[in-house]
Amino acid sequence: MKIAKKDWFFIGLIVVVVGVFYAISGEVRTKKVPYDDKHMKFYEAFQKGQGKIELDAQCPVCHNENGGVPFPKDHPVKPADGPMRCLFCHKFKQK
Ligand code: HEC
Ligand code: HEC
Repeated sequence: MKIAKKDWFFIGLIVVVVGVFYAISGEVRTKKVPYDDKHMKFYEAFQKGQGKIELDAQCPVCHNENGGVPFPKDHPVKPADGPMRCLFCHKFKQK
């Protein structure tokens, strides 16, 4: 079968769609917030309806480069970039 020009257009479209799904699934693979005693209060506050942006502001108390839990070298955002939306990338675990 000979592939016509308009078929190539559809093949290209499928490649793009698959690529977008792949990119989205990459975000979901990011490590989730551990369900342990250090992070429990965030799960509880979130269940009580507290906003994620407010909770994000509390992560740097422990997660910081000045003696706290350091970020990996290849972390996509650094504290110097300004306020970090931790929970936008690191989701809560489903129970
Ligand atoms: C009381 C201190 C403390 C606070 C506050 C805190 N963390 Fe952590 N976090 C830790 C420590 C210590 C570790 C590493 C060891 C562990 O998993 O408990 C960690 C590990 C993590 C990890 C890596 C988990 C893994 O699988 O390797 C993520 C993601 C994380 N925290 C996200 C957050 C987010 C998001 C917030 C804010 C909502 C937050 N943390 C607030 C202490 C804290
Ligand atoms: C733009 C998305 C994004 C944001 C915002 C973000 N992270 Fe991450 N973080 C990642 C990615 C990607 C990794 C690489 C490893 C992984 O989790 O899969 C990572 C890794 C980590 C790790 C190390 C996990 C391990 O043990 O390998 C910790 C701890 C962490 N992030 C905490 C935080 C905290 C706390 C904040 C907010 C102050 C934050 N992150 C904001 C995307 C993000």
